[in-house]
Amino acid sequence: MELRANSITVTDHDGNPVEVDGYHVDREDREDSTADKGGYDHFMLKEIAEQPRAVADTLLGRVLADGRLNLDEARPALEELHTVEKIVIIACGTSHHAGLIARYAIEHWCRLPCEVEVAGEFRYRDSILDRRTLVIAISQSGESTDTLMAVRHARAQGAKVLAICNVEGSPIPRESDGVLYTYAGPEVGVAATKTFLTQLTMCYLIGLYLAQTREPKSADKIDSVIAQLAAIPEKVEEVLGALDPVRESARSLADAGTVLFLGRHVGYPVALEGALKLKELAYMHAEAFAACEFRHGPIALLEEGLPVVVMVPSPKGHSVLHDRVVSTIQEVRARGARTIVIAEEGDESVRPHSDVLIEIPAVSPLLQPIVSTIPLQMFAYELALAKGNDVDRPRNLTKSVTGE
Ligand code: F6R
Repeated sequence: MELRANSITVTDHDGNPVEVDGYHVDREDREDSTADKGGYDHFMLKEIAEQPRAVADTLLGRVLADGRLNLDEARPALEELHTVEKIVIIACGTSHHAGLIARYAIEHWCRLPCEVEVAGEFRYRDSILDRRTLVIAISQSGESTDTLMAVRHARAQGAKVLAICNVEGSPIPRESDGVLYTYAGPEVGVAATKTFLTQLTMCYLIGLYLAQTREPKSADKIDSVIAQLAAIPEKVEEVLGALDPVRESARSLADAGTVLFLGRHVGYPVALEGALKLKELAYMHAEAFAACEFRHGPIALLEEGLPVVVMVPSPKGHSVLHDRVVSTIQEVRARGARTIVIAEEGDESVRPHSDVLIEIPAVSPLLQPIVSTIPLQMFAYELALAKGNDVDRPRNLTKSVTGE
């Protein structure tokens, strides 16, 4: 596999490969990601390390050289996009978190209402769907029973279903109207890592595609986000090179009973994902809150030494939210908690309030989860190791959840 920094291959109108800034991955390279540990101690570690390439593979062929997006492969669902009035995203677990992040992006870029629901609840609710509803079903395995049943339920009511999936030919894409594959390669570790980042990438592509087709008024802004998304594999690589502080901090917390995660805006679902990873891998009590909700109850949990991981919004992109989160960090620390802060590089305002500061590269605010999730994956991995757990096969879990 060849992965060269600073160039990404996209296709032109005639399907010819063209290199632009980002990463270069040949289409045929998609096939050779084999299911062995490739020198890593664990599949999970390998899969975390593979994320720049996995994200590049999701982008491949979908970002054209002129900056337009090509999602034609998803037809016929996307053919009817101009008639879409509402989007409903259904998924379970980590895939649900990708959907929660996608909602912020889709509503902001496309001005379309977007609901997100755990698939198992969705089908027992009298949700209001019709031909103008686009349902997006996100499932890496393509076989989670709850998501599959929700797909059937949505189609029975006349909605079009578009699947985002990593396993070709699996049941969910087979039963959907259209599918966009993430091409993350096989994921063996039970905890989803690279499939999550590629689901996010696919959601962003769909949101930006919808914005391009429906909302030409913000074209400049959309073009600039597309350019940033095309170059994001390089930022993912950058984060991977700067994970030592998070690994060290995780190792020092092996005896902690509880870890809390706080975030706002897209940082909130990232916090949920960080807490889920910690539960499933380190078997620890971990909870995530929207930082704005913290004072409405959970703040009572704070005590001396309690680790609190905080996702900080970009100071430039979201200055108001940023400042509120910084106040929350101060408040948390004043009560003796130990703050592990994930913030954009150069954000000096958080340094004085951080026991551990993990810096991530600056990217467009809605894209931040692609880079901010990685330290949380590594945090859970390292804590699980410190506790002597089997990181690739956590207890009580299976790679796909079939049956109810
Ligand atoms: C967590 C994890 C699960 C899955 C969930 C949905 O690391 O892997 O929460 O995300 O079971 O699975 P898929 O995406 O296969 O439908």
